[in-house]
Amino acid sequence: MTPTPLCVNLHHTAFLVQDVAEAFDRYERLLGLHGENYGDHAVLRCMHEDYCLVLHQCGSLSPSLEYVAYELRPGLELKEARAELERRGARVTDVQVPGRGAALSVTDPDGNVIVLVERRRPEDPRPPIMIETDSLKGYHPRRLGHVNYLTTDAPRAVQWYTEVLGFRVTDWIGDGAAWLHIDARHHVVAFLDKGLDHIHHVAYELVDWGEMRVALDHIAKHGRYLTWGPLRHGMAQNLASYWRMWEEEVFIELYCDMQVLEPDHEPVTHADTPYSSNTWGTLPPRSYFRFDPKSVRLEREQAHAYLDPLDSSADPLDS
Ligand SMILES: [Fe+2]
Repeated sequence: MTPTPLCVNLHHTAFLVQDVAEAFDRYERLLGLHGENYGDHAVLRCMHEDYCLVLHQCGSLSPSLEYVAYELRPGLELKEARAELERRGARVTDVQVPGRGAALSVTDPDGNVIVLVERRRPEDPRPPIMIETDSLKGYHPRRLGHVNYLTTDAPRAVQWYTEVLGFRVTDWIGDGAAWLHIDARHHVVAFLDKGLDHIHHVAYELVDWGEMRVALDHIAKHGRYLTWGPLRHGMAQNLASYWRMWEEEVFIELYCDMQVLEPDHEPVTHADTPYSSNTWGTLPPRSYFRFDPKSVRLEREQAHAYLDPLDSSADPLDS
């Protein structure tokens, strides 16, 4: 029997950062997020939502993804969710999150931390675009859209997210990459088997192609260059562009025009071809799946563009 879904909404991501004030300013400047800096932590948002990003001082730890938080389905209280998660074999711990207080934390098989908070509807039910403001800046994404992890075992991750959290598989590419959903949007999380467990990207939704141009001109003026894109994903259909937030070892994806699922959607296994990744043809440099300083440097130098495709010893990442 298919497990009952526990989550209905991707609420926020949290990152451990070296310096909260610096990171707050950076996410505000590069991504157009806005929020409150409380010193040891900060919260930021795209438009009028609760918030979609938490920054915590990393102290002696390395800057990295801390956790990804989802809202539980409406009416599901923490104590009921805890009992259900434990029935499904998860080890649950109590945590606190900014603005929400008590929450539950579980860890997926790759070691990624998932936080669950009770569902809270926005106080103002109007679409954010209808709400007047005197504080919102010009450029900002519409909303936090999805997270994508590199994994050492995609089927194991899919089994855990479907059986423990009740996520649904949307599509596969081959047997090493899977996309999952909790609502009508094509995916809220994805796993790519690339031989390491690591966050890959956090994706923010833009309104359309025109806004993508504004966003990419904006980040270029701030010294952030695209690693991949703009492109059109075959599977999921979204227009997408990827650039590094190298401070926290994560890519930021800006996207729009993602596939909306039919109510009777059945998972499709797409062929593992360049076309499935990008209908416009160009694949990313291999550094796109790596976070070591050498990969980041060679990517900025666009070393892949100077390779001789007939020279098999010419992979700079291996030299
Ligand atoms: Fe993505």
